Amino acid sequence: MIYISKPLIGQEEIDAVINVIKSGALASGSVVTEFENEFSNYLKASYAVATSSGTTALEIALKASGIGKGDKVLTTPFSFIASTNAILYAGANPVFADIDEKTYNISADSIEKALISESDIKALLIVHLYGQSCDMDKILEITKKYNLVLIEDCAQAHGAEWKGKKAGTFGDAAAFSFYPTKNMTTSEGGMVVTNKSEIASTAKLLINHGMETRYYHQRIGYNYRMTNISAAIGLCQLKKLDLFNTTRRKNAAFFDTNITNPKLVLPYTSLDGKHVYHQYTLKVKDGLRNKLADYLHKHEVGYGIYYPLSIPQQHCYRNFDFNKNYPVTDRIKEEVLSIPVHPALTVDEKETIVKVLNGFQE
Ligand SMILES: Cc1ncc(COP(=O)(O)O)c(C=O)c1O
Repeated sequence: MIYISKPLIGQEEIDAVINVIKSGALASGSVVTEFENEFSNYLKASYAVATSSGTTALEIALKASGIGKGDKVLTTPFSFIASTNAILYAGANPVFADIDEKTYNISADSIEKALISESDIKALLIVHLYGQSCDMDKILEITKKYNLVLIEDCAQAHGAEWKGKKAGTFGDAAAFSFYPTKNMTTSEGGMVVTNKSEIASTAKLLINHGMETRYYHQRIGYNYRMTNISAAIGLCQLKKLDLFNTTRRKNAAFFDTNITNPKLVLPYTSLDGKHVYHQYTLKVKDGLRNKLADYLHKHEVGYGIYYPLSIPQQHCYRNFDFNKNYPVTDRIKEEVLSIPVHPALTVDEKETIVKVLNGFQE
């Protein structure tokens, strides 16, 4: 079986975890601080606050940016559900704008349409899906024009760039996930990134029970802290992130050149961005996506369907008065299929993937 994802954990990570365990300082401490510093340096951002997951990072990014009860937050209907749940956890109301036909990221045109039809939208939460940056020129123009708070969900976009600037440094705040399938991992974990000192200090307070001085609680906060054990893994993984991403991009280039099946549309990549291929996502023509999925399963090639339903169509939101129909999303969700592109793929595995895909017929 060729797996759709595989974390690359080396002896460095194992040694680093053992060192933390031997130190006895298992919970949040100096290793977390070092990871926060290294991560913000990597992105060329001013501040980073480590959290327990990408989901908690998103919730805190929103809350620390001043989003709360009753605020309307515009977001994409085509993402992992956490990007919408975080808006709800903040007490705010999600509204959706359809995606771009080629990149599958939220479309600037549909954002503008939504802003014209709903006047009181306070924030925009974008997702750099599959490792490709949204069109930040257009998005920054819109956020300026409409005076919106901008939150970036970078759970799938560690190291991705738009015109040489790293995803996660454009908005008021950004959130990263370090779940094991991501471009780098800490086991579970997340990071809030911001260039604004007030947002960073509020985020720090919120993830630690609103407490600056021990047992004096200024706000009702949470325990969303990262552990030193996770941060030790993160420090090792961060050193390897550029190499992981280069390997992902080389794997993607190999697929671009060698997948020739006319039933498959290769991923579109904007020349203005640097795609880090969290996923390599094919579009399958002629209603054959599910047939291709069965065929890949039979040939022991792992695949993923990200995502089979739009977010507003999820059962858990059946009683919410969300608009449920987004024409581009509703079509794309039936057509996309992601194949393994992770840096642990061997040459043989990549050749097998190409051979199997090129052999797929109606
Ligand atoms: C786009 C997106 N947002 C948020 C998350 C949530 O991250 P986590 O699983 O670390 O909570 C994920 C992770 O799957 C994601 O893909």
